[in-house]
Amino acid sequence: MSNPDDNDSRNSHNNVSDEHLPSEQERGAVAPADDPFADPGLPPHEHRRQDIDERAAKRSERTVALLFTVSMLSTIGFIASYVAIPIDKIVYIWPFGHISGLNFALGLTLGVALFCIGAGAVHWARTLMSDEEMSDERHPIEATPEVKAQVLADFAQGTKESQFGRRKLVRTTLFGALALVPLSGVVLLRDLGPLPGTKLRHTMWKPGSLIINENTMQPLRPEDITLGSLTQAMPEGLDPHDHNFQVEIAKAAVMLVRLEPDDIKDPKSAEWGHEGILCFSKICTHIGCPATLYEQQTHHALCPCHQSTFDLADGARVLFGPAGHPLPQLRIKVNDDGYLEALGDFEEPPGPSFWERG
Ligand code: FES
Repeated sequence: MSNPDDNDSRNSHNNVSDEHLPSEQERGAVAPADDPFADPGLPPHEHRRQDIDERAAKRSERTVALLFTVSMLSTIGFIASYVAIPIDKIVYIWPFGHISGLNFALGLTLGVALFCIGAGAVHWARTLMSDEEMSDERHPIEATPEVKAQVLADFAQGTKESQFGRRKLVRTTLFGALALVPLSGVVLLRDLGPLPGTKLRHTMWKPGSLIINENTMQPLRPEDITLGSLTQAMPEGLDPHDHNFQVEIAKAAVMLVRLEPDDIKDPKSAEWGHEGILCFSKICTHIGCPATLYEQQTHHALCPCHQSTFDLADGARVLFGPAGHPLPQLRIKVNDDGYLEALGDFEEPPGPSFWERG
């Protein structure tokens, strides 16, 4: 006599061919798996092409060798770039914009050299190194029934003793406290903003700003700047008692020197000055110390922090040290009253060279 359950089961699969049904279903019941974490074992080993075809192995060998060779060439390119590209060479590279040509070349060549070593090693391991498969027995990770029962009993006992289940008010307020406390961290995220926008690119200098001597707080005249001296200055309208004085002076501080016009090597720099008086940002383009140690014979300005040296006679070009850019120069003129004034803001952001990415 047939079982009614068996009939129901077969009827429900009328549209499925028998070969797609597991054998247990054909008998009308699915047997529970004994061990849901049973080790399925290793699939049959498949040989790689390179294991059975010597020509494929040779191709892989050549590919690996090519990657290592490209790495060597890139390293040579790195050294050549370091020697050949001037430290203050600025190039336009899409999409980065105007950046240091030397930094770009060094980063690119070193990146390619390291990538090719890594890619060559991975290709070597995947195609040529031994492909032997090994299995390592693992002990069962499931706890024994006794341990599970003990854990559940301990949990029930702890719940009872803490009165967690009985004291509903305590339980509810605890959940509330735990849910709210992470919000304090979220609120602190507000301090990450607002973003600086273009603030770091601009200073207080604008057309017509008088140049104020930082020591006397008086506007400077050309005759105040003598040969061989270095005068530290700031824009008019900046009061040391203002709450934002430190923020503004950190971007706008300048130094003025007077050179013999014939000593100025950079014609553009000479044109931006006034009869040999040149005005440069004094904020070192390394990490922002004042670069105001002046050697009047050589016209070099030295930063005391890490010894970056700038040639003020040659557009404040970097001669030595970790600074990545010349000191920006401020265009100046003499106004009708005989005072030195700015013709506008710096053309590039003063200070550490990473602002160029801002
Ligand atoms: S801050 Fe000037 S050299 Fe480092």
